[in-house]
Amino acid sequence: MSSEFKEQIWAVLRTVKFPGMSRDVVSFGFVKSVEASGGSVTVDLHMATANQAAARQIQEDVDRALRAADGVEEVVVNMKVAVPVKPEQAQQQAVMQDPNLIPGVENVIAVASGKGGVGKSTVAASLAVRLAQLGHTVGLLDADIYGPSVPIMFGIQGKPRIDGERNRILPFEKYGVKVMSLGFILDTDTPVIWRGPMVMKAIEQMLADVVWGELDFLIVDLPPGTGDAQLTLTQRVPLSGAVVVTTPQDVALIDARKGLAMFTKVDVPVIGIIENMSGFACPHCGETTNIFKHGGGHRTADLLKTPFLGAIPLDPKIVEGGDNGVPIVVSEPEGSHADAFRKVAEAVLRQVAKNAEQPKLSIV
Ligand SMILES: Nc1ncnc2c1ncn2[C@@H]1O[C@H](COP(=O)(O)OP(=O)(O)O)[C@@H](O)[C@H]1O
Ligand SMILES: [Mg+2]
Repeated sequence: MSSEFKEQIWAVLRTVKFPGMSRDVVSFGFVKSVEASGGSVTVDLHMATANQAAARQIQEDVDRALRAADGVEEVVVNMKVAVPVKPEQAQQQAVMQDPNLIPGVENVIAVASGKGGVGKSTVAASLAVRLAQLGHTVGLLDADIYGPSVPIMFGIQGKPRIDGERNRILPFEKYGVKVMSLGFILDTDTPVIWRGPMVMKAIEQMLADVVWGELDFLIVDLPPGTGDAQLTLTQRVPLSGAVVVTTPQDVALIDARKGLAMFTKVDVPVIGIIENMSGFACPHCGETTNIFKHGGGHRTADLLKTPFLGAIPLDPKIVEGGDNGVPIVVSEPEGSHADAFRKVAEAVLRQVAKNAEQPKLSIV
């Protein structure tokens, strides 16, 4: 009886459409759980969108549809929105963002840096592998138009296969991570001069036209800097948050601050700062030398009231792993660097969960 009632509730939910679209909220994957017994119904909705107006509308529509259904006496509709935005930006972003771009992806996390060469791709790749090792389903999207390096870091060559039936791109899969890179598509010998719209088109294709499937996390390796491309991307994709990678020198930290300011401007929550190349532990004598100072990332994080997610030491083995296509978290999963990346991954998980607990829409 109760399972029949539950089925009936699911059927009602399938009649509720996304505002202005023909698809229903169940097929979008917004319905996280349904509890139904003895006439009382509790539905949890979860949306990764900056479009608050649509979220509110859906919450109301679901509530109304359920109340009108046979045998329903009490209704509670919880709505969780993964990306909090300021009301004045909701409208602007509503136009830009498409909730259907990657419907099966729970959390999109951007890895960014103020400048190149600070180890952003290394961190993005290691974080993706680490999260997969911790049992999550993970994708890695290399969106670095200036120098896509994920193909080399994962040791993947060639063009991705196409799913003929659906005419969509199948991502590579390695070390438990689904991988897609601009490097698989671009001709490596031809430099590409990107203009804003081209970047957006390419990024959009790598999101919408790739069979990502159901993912707990999609890690996006962003181009370095804080230009238009990054800004547009962060507005187009519903991000759970951004991780900013920096090195301990003051110059790098100034850039990291610019990166943080960019995310704040577009209301993308900052997950925190990672300090990379933080001290060199000599393999011979064991002593740690702080080549680029020490603790700058931590200080910047404190100063900007942003979580500090951890420090990754400088180690030639990381370079080797990157060049050989076997990240250090794969070759030495029990080693001290893998441990540093594990701590960072756990800090990211904690912070994402914390951010998700503070939605702008809870029960309206
Ligand atoms: N903690 C580290 N220790 C030693 N080398 C590192 C470390 N992190 C990154 N590298 C190396 O620095 C270079 C730049 O890293 P990369 O991840 O490509 O940076 P970005 O994506 O920011 O340009 C690569 O050769 C990489 O192997
Ligand atoms: Mg890179």
